[in-house]
Amino acid sequence: MIFLLLLVTYSIVLSVALMVAGAKPQPIAARGVPHERPKRVLIIGATGGTGRELVAQALERGYEVTAIARNPAKLSVSHASLHVVQGDVLDASSVEAAVRGQDAVLSALGHRKYFPPSRILSNGTRNILHAMESQRVSRFVCETSLGVGNSVGRMGVLYTFFNIPLVLPFYYWDKTRQERAIAASHLDWVIVRPAALMNGEKRGRVRHGNVGSFLWTNRISRADTAAFMLDQLESDEYLRQTPGISW
Ligand SMILES: NC(=O)c1ccc[n+]([C@@H]2O[C@H](COP(=O)([O-])OP(=O)(O)OC[C@H]3O[C@@H](n4cnc5c(N)ncnc54)[C@H](OP(=O)(O)O)[C@@H]3O)[C@@H](O)[C@H]2O)c1
Repeated sequence: MIFLLLLVTYSIVLSVALMVAGAKPQPIAARGVPHERPKRVLIIGATGGTGRELVAQALERGYEVTAIARNPAKLSVSHASLHVVQGDVLDASSVEAAVRGQDAVLSALGHRKYFPPSRILSNGTRNILHAMESQRVSRFVCETSLGVGNSVGRMGVLYTFFNIPLVLPFYYWDKTRQERAIAASHLDWVIVRPAALMNGEKRGRVRHGNVGSFLWTNRISRADTAAFMLDQLESDEYLRQTPGISW
């Protein structure tokens, strides 16, 4: 009983901290002219679940795609419009080289070192932001997660009181640092916060905005997440906003 009380108290305190620390949507001045559809896009995390979908769907949509991968051999796709470059987000010079000449960057960066404290997401993203600012590439679409900022609690009870506080506290805390770095940049960013990710089917119907449930864990496929992220290259609807997405 005491353990349960302590867990609930700790989970609530952590939730408040994640809420305060996540990125806040920012008001934007109306654009004089609609932005041009980018032609060349860089995909970070291209060998991962969402990243592979981003690569495949970006090629289908006719973009000139550059994928940065620590191990390019992992990306077993070849296409006339796909360039794969070796690089690591924690190595600023490889990120700078990959960003050069691009019109937009999409990031599906993630890792599986869930439990220990780490700064892979935030330090890697800072390198991306720095490279984009120095190369004057303005459009950045980045995948984070429901459960940060104004979406705290929306991964459902199991995540809010078990998965996040007991398994993923440092991972989620790094996501707040990642989001804050993006929000502090001068880029045209969109932070996309998906519900629990699934492999497989692309339904083509995505709820977006203030989504998720305080009770149940909602889901969405990586394929639909990638499609929504690519849509953000062609729309200003969520410019400098943090939309949640789920089925
Ligand atoms: N799982 C969920 O239910 C869920 C829900 C909401 C949001 N998310 C978030 O969504 C994002 C994408 O998740 P996912 O499962 O689709 O991705 P994933 O399969 O974990 O792939 C992550 C990608 O990031 C790359 N990466 C990691 N460290 C790197 C580095 N130092 N330099 C360059 N690339 C690096 C990985 O490359 P390697 O192949 O070389 O490792 C991989 O391509 C993550 O941030 C995750 O936390 C997950």
